[in-house]
Amino acid sequence: MVGESGSGKSTLGNAIIRSLEPPGRITSGKILLDDQDITKISDNDFNENIRWKKIAMVFQGAMNSLDPVFSIEDQFKEIFIQHYGKNKYDKESIENSLLEVNLDKSILKQYPHELSGGMKQRVIIAMALILNPKILIADEPTTALDVLIQAQIINLLKKLKTNEKKTIILITHDFGIVSELADWIAVMYAGQIVEFNRLGDIYSSPNHPYTQMLISNSPKFGSTFTEIKQTSLNEIETKNLESGCRYYGRCPYAKEICKQNPPLIKINNGYVKCWLYE
Ligand SMILES: Nc1ncnc2c1ncn2[C@@H]1O[C@H](COP(=O)(O)OP(=O)(O)OP(=O)(O)O)[C@@H](O)[C@H]1O
Ligand SMILES: [Mg+2]
Repeated sequence: MVGESGSGKSTLGNAIIRSLEPPGRITSGKILLDDQDITKISDNDFNENIRWKKIAMVFQGAMNSLDPVFSIEDQFKEIFIQHYGKNKYDKESIENSLLEVNLDKSILKQYPHELSGGMKQRVIIAMALILNPKILIADEPTTALDVLIQAQIINLLKKLKTNEKKTIILITHDFGIVSELADWIAVMYAGQIVEFNRLGDIYSSPNHPYTQMLISNSPKFGSTFTEIKQTSLNEIETKNLESGCRYYGRCPYAKEICKQNPPLIKINNGYVKCWLYE
């Protein structure tokens, strides 16, 4: 999932795993997991059977919220006890999930401040993997890490995807990471997915004017930097949120019909939410 800051990527991820902050709530639509609409199931059922067990999330900035006064082991323990009760603490599965992220079990005795950013991020990913979920939502897992550590995290996610056959919903605004990891891309703008297609199709023939702008402005070797105006959802007029295309004010192709909400149109392998293709 790509899109500029404030486009609603984290909000969508949090909605999937039922971690929207009130007053945020899901007002319509479905979230299908193995053909089951998980918006319909009770909170209890969701907590018991879905969260962490089928879908886990690495929240944006989570590596900075490791508790500084507890050892890494105590923080893993906490997750275990929450899910299985006090007497089910199983050090072996913790060590296994550390192995999956290339961390030695000796770090269990350490405290967050003793770890590098990349190690902390891997601890967070190991925590998300502990109940062996099928789907991992990773929200900006490489932001604030230097390029070498970024590469380690990207390789780790690649391994989880190819070897462990996990589905990863990767949230990022970094097109470089996307091209390394993604099969499908959803482009978000102002709280909506405006285009969904295969990686190759998005790069070779972006359809939505916003995707075209994103692709043509992603940094290329040797090119000069052009500043992109970014708009947050708060700045977009609320009347546009209610009715017309949300990209209307910035779109070079805007026409009269764009004052109405564009339908999601099937195109090639994917979808685009734009009147140009009607
Ligand atoms: N579908 C939506 N309807 C209404 N408000 C939304 C929706 N999606 C997101 N928002 C609001 O937009 C703001 C930014 O959303 P969010 O944090 O999800 O952006 P982001 O794309 O993750 O940005 P960043 O790249 O900076 O992390 C939040 O205040 C959120 O409440
Ligand atoms: Mg975000």
